[in-house]
Amino acid sequence: MNLPATILVGLQWGDEGKGRVADWLAAESQIVARYAGGDNAGHTVYVGTRVYKLHLIPSGILQPGVICILGNGMVINPVNLVREIDELTTAGVDITPKRLWISSKAHIITPAHIALDKASEKARGKDAIGTTLRGIGPAYLDKTGRQGIRAGAMLDPEAFGDSLMEQVERANVQVLAAGLDPHAAAAEYVEAARRLRDYIRDTVVSINALLDAGQRALCEGAQGTMLDIDHGDYPFVTSSSSTVGGALIGLGIGAKHVDRVVGVAKAFSTRVGAGPFPTELNDEIGDRLRGTGENFWDEYGTTTGRPRRTGWLDLVVLRYACMVNGVTELVLTKLDILSEFETLKIAHHYSGVDVYDPPSDPSQIVPPTYTDYPGWMEDIGGVRQWDALPENARRYIDAIQAALGVPINTVSVGPERDQLVHR
Ligand code: GDP
Ligand code: IMO
Ligand code: MG
Repeated sequence: MNLPATILVGLQWGDEGKGRVADWLAAESQIVARYAGGDNAGHTVYVGTRVYKLHLIPSGILQPGVICILGNGMVINPVNLVREIDELTTAGVDITPKRLWISSKAHIITPAHIALDKASEKARGKDAIGTTLRGIGPAYLDKTGRQGIRAGAMLDPEAFGDSLMEQVERANVQVLAAGLDPHAAAAEYVEAARRLRDYIRDTVVSINALLDAGQRALCEGAQGTMLDIDHGDYPFVTSSSSTVGGALIGLGIGAKHVDRVVGVAKAFSTRVGAGPFPTELNDEIGDRLRGTGENFWDEYGTTTGRPRRTGWLDLVVLRYACMVNGVTELVLTKLDILSEFETLKIAHHYSGVDVYDPPSDPSQIVPPTYTDYPGWMEDIGGVRQWDALPENARRYIDAIQAALGVPINTVSVGPERDQLVHR
């Protein structure tokens, strides 16, 4: 029987390289769908000479003919979506309502949500989460509070403008000195609604019809397991379900369709924003992993430009993420960044204890116990055959595979579309 849906999830704190892996898997899919989050995500895909930074639109858009869906589980800033459509169109990407569908049930991020996000972060002071300030949390808060505005409302732009104005006026009362201009905000949003109207549909019915007809779907996760609202290290998380369960809810598909869960992990660890990070390195090794910022793939946020925190690979986190998501295969990215380290370290445990539950309270962090692995000196960016990887690189990969009990048959050795090595 054909089981056509693959779910792709990040196994760490986001920015694992999901976009580039989605671009690869999209080549064998007819549908690519985002199921959670909004433009807090930044997915970078490098094709030929062009670097694409996708925030709301699935990475599948770069594979001709693939249908891309913004699922009901997402929160969408329509003004930023229009901007992204225009930028991609200018870059030569074919975007029409024929191949880009927006769920009528997705929720709208308004200027009120952005103002509330900023105010909430400010009020937290030193306990700030370090959100992307895109209004994500407040938008999901309105959704679960049953007072959000859904994308379907954009089908009637004038009424949509009125609802928006009401919400902005409410935010002006809630947030002292928010100073939002309800009329200007409504005008901008009504304009965006007019542009997006033709893209909106009941994507739940559409995707199920396609799956029943045997079309292959890739569900492209955003964020990562440790940022998941339930399974991440709360409260330093995002406000949606970035793990596998979120794909079923965020697209309205049944588990019977899913036969493959691809987990994406970076060969080391990064985190942007506050919260626990047991293997964090605040030294020159950490700086080396981050890079100087000269290259687009260096560890600076795609969405906010903030330097990412860096550290060694954490297998406590990966084991937990493989368990929570039921990962069936793992793709390891940015292996090339580990070239020229004499010794690499992997945290198999924390303080000698095999804990499955990474600590969510920073005060509970116990020092990781590291195992040393010999590094390799070769530049591996040009490697395309598994056997051509340095022996120590293969040992590093196989140690991770053995510890997790999950096959690693694909690694990436550079950001370009073809810089993938398959076992
Ligand atoms: P995502 O949010 O999970 O899609 O990841 P991001 O795009 O935010 O961050 C990953 C960064 O690493 C991007 O700049 C990618 O172009 C880059 N990247 C992905 N895979 C590799 C790789 O194997 N090697 C190098 N050097 N860069 C990579
Ligand atoms: P992609 O899809 C990395 C982090 C923020 C912050 C926390 C909450 O590119 O992997 P939010 O704005 O969602 O309320 O912020 O989550 N965060 C991400 N970190 N990659 C992302 O997305 C992220 N999306 C949110 O930095 O710590
Ligand atoms: Mg990212």
